Parts: sequence; C-alpha cells; structure tokens
Amino acid sequence: MCAQITMDDLIRRVGELPPMPQVAQRALDLIRDPKSDMADVAKILTMDEAMTSLVLRWANSAYYGLKYPVSTVHQAVTYLGYRTLHSLILAASVASFLERPAPGYALERGELWRHSIAVAAGARLIAADFGQKIAEEAYHAGLLCDIGKLALEILLRNTNTNQPDWQGQPFNELENAHFGIDHAALGAELARRWRLPNTLVDAIANHHHPSQANEGAILAAAVHLADAAAMSLGIGLGKDGLQYSIDPVAVERMNWNDKKFNDLSDRILPFVEEADEFIRIRRMKA
Ligand SMILES: [Fe+2]
Repeated sequence: MCAQITMDDLIRRVGELPPMPQVAQRALDLIRDPKSDMADVAKILTMDEAMTSLVLRWANSAYYGLKYPVSTVHQAVTYLGYRTLHSLILAASVASFLERPAPGYALERGELWRHSIAVAAGARLIAADFGQKIAEEAYHAGLLCDIGKLALEILLRNTNTNQPDWQGQPFNELENAHFGIDHAALGAELARRWRLPNTLVDAIANHHHPSQANEGAILAAAVHLADAAAMSLGIGLGKDGLQYSIDPVAVERMNWNDKKFNDLSDRILPFVEEADEFIRIRRMKA
C-alpha cells in the first residue's frame, strides 16, 4: 500500500494543474449571484465565440423543446431563463479543463469531458421531477462530480493498478484504501475552495455512495444513477468503470427502474454528440 497522503499534499498537487479558466470562474460567480442579469451573461459569452455557438446550439436542442429556434444570446435568456443558461455557460466554460487527458484513469483526451456531459445531462433528466432548480443543480453536480480525477490521476499514473490488491472492489474504495482519499472527496474539496454551494459539495463528495449524502441527497442520487448509465454506455469508462456498483438507496430515492434506465441511455447520447462537436470546433479554432 502506498503511504497515506494528506489532503494538503493532494491539494498541492492540484495546484500544479492549470488554474480554473477565468471564464469558468466568472460563470461560477454568476451562478452564485442571484442578482446577475442579462448584461453579465452576455459579457461572459462574448469572451468566447466557441462558447456562444455551443450555448446557442444546446439551447436549440430537443431537450428544451423550444417552439422557435433561438439565434441570439438575448433570445436564449428570454426563452430558457437565466438558470438554464447558467448551466450551459458552466458546461462550456469547464470544457477546456475537463477535456484534459487523465492517463492514470486510462482516459484519453476528451473522454472525461464526454463522460461529465453524459452524467450532467442524465442527472438533470433524473432530477426533473423535483423541479427545474434542482434539475439544473443536478446538472452542475454531474458536470463536476469527477473533477477530482484530474488531480488523483497523477498518483494513479505511477501505480500499478493491475496488481491483485487493486481488483475486486469499487474503484473509489480502492482509491481510499491506497491513497487515503478518493476522487469524490478530492473533487468536493475543490468545489469547497471554489465556494460552490454546500449542496453541490455534498453531492460531489457522495456521488458514489449517495446513501451517505445530506443536504445534497437528491443531487447525489441523480448523479450516481446517471454515472452508472454513462458507464454502461461505455462513455468515459476508464479504469474505474468496470467495478461500478449501484447504491440501492439512490434507486429508491429517485423511484428508479430498468425501463427508466434504458430510456435515459437513449436521451443522453445526443448531449454527448453535441459535446464532441463542441470540442471539434474548439480544436479547429485553436
Ligand atoms: Fe466518480
């Protein structure tokens, strides 16, 4: 077993990662600020042409069911509302962060991004019965649930996870056993440092065992089930996907069943295709 590593050691390693993109930080500030308005939203979007095009494409996707297509940011705000638009901006702004490869988890460039979008979109659909506010929060939690992998993978890169003592348990439990922390706890710590709401921090911390969640219980359950759906579709499988176990508390809490699971899988894929397209356009313009 590796020596136990403290949170501060890990956060120091997180500090070696590129900082959160400025535009993402501003998007997060905007989400936290209930007084933000159209001008703030427009300002964020004008910082990034690719982001604007993604937000408008997503706004016109089947999920939102708009009667008429929107072609401007103003229309998107009018028809979708700030809350939804914030979610789209957050997703587009963390793309450059999540797009990074995570070789420690055997995730190639773009795979963590695709997985995160799949989980975000799935969690929002699962939480839809609890109202739009919670559904959009579930999207945020899904988008950021695995962000701790970007730090923990540095340790995994130098670890032979093919050894017998790395088999037979859920991967997050193995992370805990070997490093004294898992990617969920590390991601939650990052979210806390980014001053995200406690519900999000709790959901990120407990997305692999939602029965232990508190104020983020609904979000954690939604993310957990969406994570399982994304894994079953082979999106961002990496090293940890094959040992994923579903927490029965999440199934009960979200009134979940096999039919809903299959329907969800079909509805997630268009979001992943859009996410791929976004990265393709971004790379072309880079
Ligand atoms: Fe995870």
